[in-house]
Amino acid sequence: MIKSIFTVILAAASFMPIEAQNITEITPGKVWADNNGKHINAHGGGIIEYNGTYYWYGENRPEKGFTTEVGVEVFSSKDLMNWKDEGVALAVTEKEGDDIERGCIMERPKVVYCKKTGKFVMLFHLELKGKGYAAARVGFAESDSPTGPFRFVRSLRPNAGIWPKDFSKKQIKIAQAQNQNDYKDWWTPEWRVAIEKGMFLNRDMKGGQMSRDMTVYIDSDGKAYHIFSSEDNLTLQVAELTDDFMDYTGKYVRIAPGGQNEAPTIFKRNGKYWLIASGCTGWAPNEARMFSAKSIWGPWTQHPSPFEGEAAPHKDGGANKSFGTQGTYILPLGNDKFVFMADIWNPQSLANSLHVWLPIDFKADGTPVIRWKNSWKLN
Ligand code: DGJ
Repeated sequence: MIKSIFTVILAAASFMPIEAQNITEITPGKVWADNNGKHINAHGGGIIEYNGTYYWYGENRPEKGFTTEVGVEVFSSKDLMNWKDEGVALAVTEKEGDDIERGCIMERPKVVYCKKTGKFVMLFHLELKGKGYAAARVGFAESDSPTGPFRFVRSLRPNAGIWPKDFSKKQIKIAQAQNQNDYKDWWTPEWRVAIEKGMFLNRDMKGGQMSRDMTVYIDSDGKAYHIFSSEDNLTLQVAELTDDFMDYTGKYVRIAPGGQNEAPTIFKRNGKYWLIASGCTGWAPNEARMFSAKSIWGPWTQHPSPFEGEAAPHKDGGANKSFGTQGTYILPLGNDKFVFMADIWNPQSLANSLHVWLPIDFKADGTPVIRWKNSWKLN
């Protein structure tokens, strides 16, 4: 009898939300339970702070498979450690042919608050249902509340018909002369030179630039920038958004043409922009790349990867593999504290990909360094 009462209490408890979470430190690479005791399903995500609460938006990924079946999930927290599942911020639709029809792919959502309009704006990488990664579009959605529901507005490829702001007339002519039909094979030295000169930029001029892995950055003057992998993941582009964050001003530049960078993350410290990205190896980790610039428009200088020191205690955990992670966002906490947020992708079960948050340290000359920690305190 006592045993069966105990079993009933236990069974009831397993369905009950954990009211008071008591997470007191960050444990990179470990399961991170939300208020329901479930691993936080918000991958490729980003965080904003609004009225004293943090909101974490990310990909709600399925246990099995690669497509988006639910949408973008949002969690809230007061202390960045104990997170409450606030539900689906942007839901897929059931309408056949819709841009965000169930079965599309929504990746790397980033939400920003637009002071001018009072709206929360979400940009995300969108792939259309059944088209693999060929669509390479950016989706725009907006909401009056940080927890949504967000209203899908449209998807597009940025800056159709517009050349980078730093391209001279001569450079435009050279880019226009590059034709992919002249190259039988990819990756040859000549092909690479043609990419750098703008072969794919020119190819996509009419329909707009491809837009896959991405982040959104709000500068200290309030201007917003969309930074994304373009030109078949070969070149990053940084494009200025309009004052309502819902469109492009047409001002953009390329970063590291032909450098094959994905997963861009960015922060500014002492007037200098630092951009940390990954290489392109699907779900597998690789060595991060880092760039700095005094202006968002460049010139951008490449530095060695910021990952240093002892390996993390898991597969591919070496600093030369970015501790097995791929970055997703850099969260600024005040002017001099920055948290590098990343995923350890689990392609067998994307929902169970693990989160890695690590503090960014700085060398005496100001260069960022990221070292592994099994656990650490935020304050
Ligand atoms: C790496 C990207 O960074 C991820 O967001 C995702 O698009 C995978 N590639 C898909 O292979």
